[in-house]
Amino acid sequence: MQKCEGRTILVTGASRGIGRAIARRLAAEGASVVLSASRSGVHGSLLGTLDEAVDEIRAAGGKARAVTADLCKPEERSDLISRASELFGPIDTLINNAAGARMKLPSQATHEDRSFMYELNVNAPIDLAQQAIPSMRARGGGWILNITSATARQPALPYRDSKTSALVIGAYGATKAALDRYTVALAHELIEHEIFVNALAPTSIVLTQAAEYVRDIGRRNPDMVEPVEMMAEAALELCTGRHAGLVTFSRDLVHSTGGKVHSLDGTRVLGDAFLKADIEGKV
Ligand SMILES: NC(=O)c1ccc[n+]([C@@H]2O[C@H](COP(=O)([O-])OP(=O)(O)OC[C@H]3O[C@@H](n4cnc5c(N)ncnc54)[C@H](OP(=O)(O)O)[C@@H]3O)[C@@H](O)[C@H]2O)c1
Repeated sequence: MQKCEGRTILVTGASRGIGRAIARRLAAEGASVVLSASRSGVHGSLLGTLDEAVDEIRAAGGKARAVTADLCKPEERSDLISRASELFGPIDTLINNAAGARMKLPSQATHEDRSFMYELNVNAPIDLAQQAIPSMRARGGGWILNITSATARQPALPYRDSKTSALVIGAYGATKAALDRYTVALAHELIEHEIFVNALAPTSIVLTQAAEYVRDIGRRNPDMVEPVEMMAEAALELCTGRHAGLVTFSRDLVHSTGGKVHSLDGTRVLGDAFLKADIEGKV
């Protein structure tokens, strides 16, 4: 029996990067996966599109459908869970992965920059969770996984690269800290309904195609780069286990459970929590 057989999962921000990898891994475990992004097919091949992500899963024999919504816009996200639920049935697992950053020094992030990040990184995941909870409660349980970031925490001193760190950890890190805190509160509220709420962040950095702003840090500090498969494996563990309220990092979770990291199609063991990636993020 596959780990996600019979499950219906919505992954936001699934057209590329970490969200797409998680969607592939969960689909390989038998889930019916609804992938969402702000648009279906306009990016071009460099970054990947939602349509390509859905096709990739289907070509591998998985069940996938797409739904679009610009999560920055409350009016577009207000019915996302109900639209997603029409495709394979009620959503029992919500993975809030979509996020955005404005790389501004903290002293220079404008109100518009901050509003953009709080809307997409904090208000959207909370709104989606609130839309999904009634049906999860009615069905006797569910999983909500929020993807956050190590930038939510104070970086260790001395900074490896103080200017870049300041850019990366500024207002963006504050939104992720807010989501971490909200996650724990929601987890406490919902545990009595068997709904497990978690936050998961890459232990360091995953060099997704869009993560150009951290590629230089990765080049100078290869030990900080982790393969996207690590996040997919950790997400699978949190969405199938009972880790109420755990706010954790990918490598830490894989290490603490003694788990193995698999390829995204689930067929090969690639290594354990110490698995390394090259500068492109590939194993
Ligand atoms: N990569 C890292 O090293 C790293 C480190 C720490 C935390 N994270 C977190 O991991 C998650 C994924 O990161 P990533 O590097 O994989 O990101 P990414 O490659 O930039 O992908 C972001 C995804 O979110 C979607 N998205 C962006 N804006 C959206 C909007 N307004 N409405 C709906 N969807 C939107 C994008 O699709 P469209 O543009 O087509 O809408 C895309 O599918 C994020 O929560 C990020 O904060 C990543």
